[in-house]
Amino acid sequence: MHFKELSFPTNYIWGAAISAAQAEGAVHIDGKLNSIWDDFSKRKWNLNRKIAHHGISHKPLNSAEFYHNFKADIQILKQLNFKAFRFSTAWSRILPNGIGPINQKGIDFYNQLIDELLENNIVPWLTIYHWDLPVALQKKGGWVNRDILNWFEEFTQVLLHHFGDRVLNWMVLNEPLAFTAAGHFLGVHAPGKIGITNFLKATHHALLVQANTGRQIKNINANFKVGTTFSATYITPYSQKPKDIEATKRADALYNRLFLEPYLGMGLPISELPFLNKIEKYTKSEDNYAFDADFIGIQNYTREVAKHNTWMPYIKAGIVPAEKRNVPITAMKWEILPESIYHILKKINQYPNLPPIYLTEVGAAFKDTVSENGDVNDQERIQFFEKYFQQVLRAHQENYTTEGVFVWSLLDNFEWAEGYHPRFGLVHVDFKTQQRIIKQSGKWFKDFLKS
Ligand code: GAL
Repeated sequence: MHFKELSFPTNYIWGAAISAAQAEGAVHIDGKLNSIWDDFSKRKWNLNRKIAHHGISHKPLNSAEFYHNFKADIQILKQLNFKAFRFSTAWSRILPNGIGPINQKGIDFYNQLIDELLENNIVPWLTIYHWDLPVALQKKGGWVNRDILNWFEEFTQVLLHHFGDRVLNWMVLNEPLAFTAAGHFLGVHAPGKIGITNFLKATHHALLVQANTGRQIKNINANFKVGTTFSATYITPYSQKPKDIEATKRADALYNRLFLEPYLGMGLPISELPFLNKIEKYTKSEDNYAFDADFIGIQNYTREVAKHNTWMPYIKAGIVPAEKRNVPITAMKWEILPESIYHILKKINQYPNLPPIYLTEVGAAFKDTVSENGDVNDQERIQFFEKYFQQVLRAHQENYTTEGVFVWSLLDNFEWAEGYHPRFGLVHVDFKTQQRIIKQSGKWFKDFLKS
């Protein structure tokens, strides 16, 4: 099937995405103070690995310098025919200390960004929190301190006050499982904390924030469209042995159900993950994880294969790396399996009263090279998108519909613990010169989205 035959509904939303810590750069410019990622990436050795070096400094410090280039980048976005843009707000650019005095230059930046988008007929979709907590709040315990509920409310209030006249679409958190599990249990993401207590407290607070903030936003204006985003991984068992099948259920509860089901009002998946019972001791009578959202954002990149593993604490399940399974992989070493999204949508659609779904991140990292004539011919990425969208349409035919897609990412950027090596952009960025080259995949979108 050629891409021209990919017939999506005419009102389907097509956007591209970035996040502040990954794309803005300008870390110490105009009053911004450090986020936990600025600090974490400065450490020479993180717990499990060094943020990989590939010729340039692997800190979000420089990155794609979207802060200085946003006008030109929005012109590229427009040229590629996208009509929506998902970005996040750097908390420590707006409130350098996390709470208290506002940094006017931070407000000015996002005001200009939002105005520029609207002037170019591109709808802003704002993510409040994409993992970059101000260091000042981390010093007070960050996500493991229940005060995060008040800090987050204050930050949200500032955003609503300054941007709520023009931004209608709000996403509260980006993939809470990543910053709780990778950041507070495994220690491989900022803030580099480990252990079950940190994980459970951070999880409890993130569950509360994603629901409370939804209510807060709707109370200001019921017309706002509010949701939050979830990572979603298609998980299959390594073998048909009952032990592997049970391990797969536990892995699925952790990867896919922990944050989504409480949000939908179904409570925690305690029967598969009994250790979640311990959350009860942090819970107060007023705590409510449920929120009647206008939409949910689903972000699926790959499939994982799970296997029973006695040594793995708490979930007794391990993941069999794609590299060992002899399957095609991306530069992230993630299996390329576009039908994952079909299975995810089918599975999620079993929930009753599901709000509309947006695919808030879709993309793949490959080892893109710039040819002598200055072209980046990323055919693998084009194929990835074609096949992925076929699977989204397959889901639509079975009534597992979605309302829109946000491509990850508009620009090559800082890929967290992987540094600058994996390139996800539709636009190649030379991190030394900041030169942009629209990749063939970007041109593919331009053609595909042309009306
Ligand atoms: C997501 C994350 C993005 C991006 C992407 C690719 O989990 O939200 O910030 O890094 O993965 O790895």
